[in-house]
Amino acid sequence: MTDVSSSPPVLVSIHRGDYRPPEWRVPDIALDFRLDLAETSVTAALAVERDIETPSPLVLHGDGLTPEAVRVDGEVWNDWRMDGSDLIVDLGDRTAATVEVDTRIDPSANTQLMGLYASNNMLCTQCEAEGFRRITFHPDRPDVLSRYKVRMEADKTRFPILLSNGNCIDKGAGEGGKHWALWEDPWPKPSYLFALVAGDLVVNRDEFVTMSGRKVELGIWVRAGDESRTGHAMQALKNSMAWDERVYGREYDLDLFNIVAVSDFNMGAMENKGLNIFNTRYILADPDTATDADYDGVEGVVAHEYFHNWSGNRITCRDWFQLSLKEGFTVYRDQSFSADMGSPAVKRIEDVRLLRAAQFPEDAGPLAHPIRPDSYQEISNFYTATVYNKGAEIIRMMATMAGPERFRKGTDLYFDRHDGEAATCEDFVRAIEDGAGLDLKQFRLWYSQAGTPRVTARVEHDAASGAAQLHLTQNVPPTPGQPVKVPMPIPLRIKAFDRSATATQAGEQLVVLHDAETVVPLGQFAASPQLSLNRGFSAPVIIDFERGADELGWLAAHDDDPFARYEALQQLMLDTLVAAVSGKPGHRQAVIDAVAETLRGREADPAFVAEAVLLPSEAFIGDQMLTVDPDAIRRERLALQDAIGAALESEWRSILAEGAPPASILSRKAKGGRRLRGVALAYLAATDRADVPSLAFTIFSEADGMTERQAALATLAHGDSDERAHALDIFYQRYRDNPLVLDKWFQVQAWSMRPDTVDAVRALAQHPDFTLTNPNRVRALYGALTGNQAAFHQADGAGYRTIADLVIALDPKNPQTAARMIPPLGRWKRFDEARAAMMKAELDRILAQPGLSRDVTEQASKSLL
Ligand code: PHE
Ligand code: ZN
Repeated sequence: MTDVSSSPPVLVSIHRGDYRPPEWRVPDIALDFRLDLAETSVTAALAVERDIETPSPLVLHGDGLTPEAVRVDGEVWNDWRMDGSDLIVDLGDRTAATVEVDTRIDPSANTQLMGLYASNNMLCTQCEAEGFRRITFHPDRPDVLSRYKVRMEADKTRFPILLSNGNCIDKGAGEGGKHWALWEDPWPKPSYLFALVAGDLVVNRDEFVTMSGRKVELGIWVRAGDESRTGHAMQALKNSMAWDERVYGREYDLDLFNIVAVSDFNMGAMENKGLNIFNTRYILADPDTATDADYDGVEGVVAHEYFHNWSGNRITCRDWFQLSLKEGFTVYRDQSFSADMGSPAVKRIEDVRLLRAAQFPEDAGPLAHPIRPDSYQEISNFYTATVYNKGAEIIRMMATMAGPERFRKGTDLYFDRHDGEAATCEDFVRAIEDGAGLDLKQFRLWYSQAGTPRVTARVEHDAASGAAQLHLTQNVPPTPGQPVKVPMPIPLRIKAFDRSATATQAGEQLVVLHDAETVVPLGQFAASPQLSLNRGFSAPVIIDFERGADELGWLAAHDDDPFARYEALQQLMLDTLVAAVSGKPGHRQAVIDAVAETLRGREADPAFVAEAVLLPSEAFIGDQMLTVDPDAIRRERLALQDAIGAALESEWRSILAEGAPPASILSRKAKGGRRLRGVALAYLAATDRADVPSLAFTIFSEADGMTERQAALATLAHGDSDERAHALDIFYQRYRDNPLVLDKWFQVQAWSMRPDTVDAVRALAQHPDFTLTNPNRVRALYGALTGNQAAFHQADGAGYRTIADLVIALDPKNPQTAARMIPPLGRWKRFDEARAAMMKAELDRILAQPGLSRDVTEQASKSLL
């Protein structure tokens, strides 16, 4: 007999095609909060107006709420009922009314971190996507836009700071040691952009004068003691405000812009109107505690959330299927901003690396979906690399095809046409079409077809006539629910080099593939030209292009597009590693020569060189194989690293001997220098030279900042020297009271290449500083494990079991964060039978748990398909 009580819930799919406009609008909302950690009461007054002819009850969504009282136009109202968790209010034939509902919530019991919750004795909210319904009953869909007035009352000693969206219009003292504040946001917004914060916070204040001369007061709110680490975020905010004016013509629209940092947060940050709420990780930075990568993360996320003020808030999404409308565009905007603030080439390399690490595997697996999905069960599962990062690539392709001036005309038209609206991806495409003068009819396929297109390239050269041609074919692979695909427009920046020519080369051209096959004439060449293809990664595709080591080595040294130089060297390394894994000889010497050649440019651009000489990740090597062999990949990657380390030992040693730039200097060059030192240390470590542990320990001890300190610690963590234990201990003692740095301590141990890493992770989960209630901590330990290919895929299945155990333990507390740990288990098709069977068994075990969340049920069941 089967036990029905433990079978997973049958989930309802929501379909994009079922969209219907709201029947009731809610032009105004007044919220009244009496706040406390364990008991908060909320009165919501919704001014509603019926938007359809026929009378229809008002449907208000709730999640875990019970209405304590319902009033209509000030009178107690009994014509309401609950339908599941929704509140249905019958308003008869009224076309307008003020509906008031009282609810009571317990923020201290809210471990999901959605709705109103407590973090470090402060209260804060997270409403995207459907968290507002955990605070009060509401239509809670992004196409219902309202003006908000928020009154908050709380104990003055414990919650001296009371913040919400917009401007504070009044405040005063209340009874019994309480005080109150009244906030008003003049801009109509969807409920997911509502926010409030109450707590004991200190502020870093600054101001920004907009292009029309308006003064905006800026505030970054943190816990006392953290204010000295907010300077970088503040500078990033001011740079972002100026950049959006200059590049997109977008000015900020309130007199106040506040950011609050909280330690318990499911995501990176949230763009609530005028009151962004951030994971502390993307606000706090000083050289002693944050790496250069952390600094870049702060800058990028501050910019991202700020840019949402226009791409997300002024123009929002009609429904959640349109999520990429705000996220893809905003990621593209923050990527462009960071490129402008630092090195465009390095930024592009980092973005493409992330796309290949997170999005390509998603697009090739059971959870593949178009950037505008067609259905979902739980929307929180669709905040994906596809919607965000592939979404950004789709915007980038439009920008590439239009060119900067015309693209700007397109975005100007978009902002102008849809300001104040809840728009769709289709609205965006049409605005770019009209404003930039592009025909995007076929391009719309990028919104509906999932899967990474593959482009096969071949150069033909006719020795007699000298004519060269490029033959290109494209193929979009089948994905779940989309067995058959049609060709898409693929814009490829290409350039053909004449290796023998000393004079200037012909220029670059932009070729847009429309059909399954395309032939591009390249011109006359004495010998077959060297082709630089998909320069700058102009299209998010996989290129199959057979090229010899000689050709790739030449491009790695001579291509004038830095991204293409990087790609050529990566391809050479990848070919060599894939060959080695299947026991074939690769081009080891060619790789060493190309790395040596690239290192010659290190004075001029150390950041680029550091990226270019880095070996492809184990996961990316696995992505090139029919069946991933994690152990062989680790072995061969280490062997190549050892060979490069040994052959260029004197180079690596001299890079390390030169000393590090002072940690307080954050110039492009200084950051690049530190990055290259980290790479040099890793190469040297792969050689197993006897002095490596002491060298790494010296760097660790003498480091004047976290970039060097963490790099040295990570290197030591791979080995089993006495220095390893010593350094981990010193690091722990020094930073045990700093949660963000303690995360690094967990993370480097879970990243370790030691054979006992899975056991170490299981042991660390029992450490007194480990907790399931903090998502950063969970990601630091378990997220690092799933990113450690050889450990996660350990042959006995212990890695899989560890992650499934975590999902099962975490789901009752925080389903969103639990669900995010599942996709690595869903890659089972890519592994051998034994591993695949164990991965599926763990997914089955998860699904057999009683009372599983919708989040985890959807991800685990889809991962089995
Ligand atoms: N909208 C946020 C961003 O991309 C991300 C987010 C989604 C945060 C859902 C919290 C919850 O900037
Ligand atoms: Zn975003």
